[in-house]
Amino acid sequence: MVRFIATLAALPAALAIPFTINPYNSIWDHNVRPYKAPGPNDSRGPCPMLNTLANHGYLPHDGRNIERQVLFDALSEHVGIEQSSVETAMANAIILCNFQTGQDCGTTLKNLTLLALPHAFEHDHSFSRGDYKPAWIASPEDFDDNKNFNASIFQTSLDVLEGSSHMNYQQMNQVRLQREALSKQDTYPGWFEESKAIQEFEAGFIFGVMGDFNLPNYISNPQVKVEWWKYWFTNEALPYELGWHRPEPKKDVNFLLSASSRLLAARVTSTPSPLVSGAIGPAVAPVTLPAQVNTITYQLPTGTPYVGPIATEKGLGHNNGNGLFKREPEAQATPAPSAGFVPMNPYAQTLAFSDIAKQQARASARMGLI
Ligand code: HEM
Repeated sequence: MVRFIATLAALPAALAIPFTINPYNSIWDHNVRPYKAPGPNDSRGPCPMLNTLANHGYLPHDGRNIERQVLFDALSEHVGIEQSSVETAMANAIILCNFQTGQDCGTTLKNLTLLALPHAFEHDHSFSRGDYKPAWIASPEDFDDNKNFNASIFQTSLDVLEGSSHMNYQQMNQVRLQREALSKQDTYPGWFEESKAIQEFEAGFIFGVMGDFNLPNYISNPQVKVEWWKYWFTNEALPYELGWHRPEPKKDVNFLLSASSRLLAARVTSTPSPLVSGAIGPAVAPVTLPAQVNTITYQLPTGTPYVGPIATEKGLGHNNGNGLFKREPEAQATPAPSAGFVPMNPYAQTLAFSDIAKQQARASARMGLI
């Protein structure tokens, strides 16, 4: 034994180094990297997944100069989202980059923060972010944080689930309606715009990456494991330590379109108010997901997981001195926001500069700013 150890010690360092152990290596993802919190100069935006990828170093950790192909590869390798799912979104991110920088961004998204431009790609009634102009701003020119995770807002999404361990399409549609109702109630008069199709596409992403692959019928009827979803959004980290790993099979654009149309078509059991007309009811006929594939087996990660920081309400959310999310009575008198107008869906339709300008001008006009 002593001779064996001595022989090992004598091995050149170059031979010993390749055997570093990463506790998260699984058959699905061999290059797992631990979470590292963003620093004060790192750029982050309103997308929980892009922030997460940057926090793990799967995208540049500073959240800047993100190459199109680097993003596609990171999504495919680490969260099982295929290029077809995000091709249009990435094209629109670049258009937004051109729009805001006045330069040709080429194939490089200059930073994650520029995605927060309101009523462009970013929209109202998010699951975990505030709206740009809520009721409590002091004047129409003022604005609030529409970019960072907000624990209080996310809690209003989770409240709908009443402690369920899993979320199906119907529950998610109910969450969406709750967020719409609260956002419409708390909006600065004239600001609110309903963005149903965009939000349901994002909800499709949640089903795509946080669907519980341990449940039967995972392929044909995925259900989100709520503790994974909560961990992901709250920490902006992937929930490896909760037994999550990159899902298989990878999710393509057909999965997302199918999931989002089934979400929108899922019949809800109660209807919060106020809602815009048309908020309830299918926007498109539901498409079905691919049939169950029975041959797939999953391997859970082993080893001791790292612990990501758990965000608390401290420092998150808007505090106007009177507590979070004070409601102003005049917000109830919001003018009809969206009659006959449907904002572009940047995951499925290519934006032109004129579309962005038009969407922004609508809200500004309603508020009397132009
Ligand atoms: C190029 C690709 C992508 C771009 C440019 C992008 C951009 C955005 C933007 C601008 C938002 C803010 C919308 C809002 O106001 O709520 C958003 C939200 C969101 N994104 Fe992404 N995203 C991309 C890919 C993804 C992927 C691959 C996932 C997950 C697999 C994802 C998950 C989400 C979710 C769940 C939300 C909603 C957050 C909330 O409502 O609080 N995104 N994304």
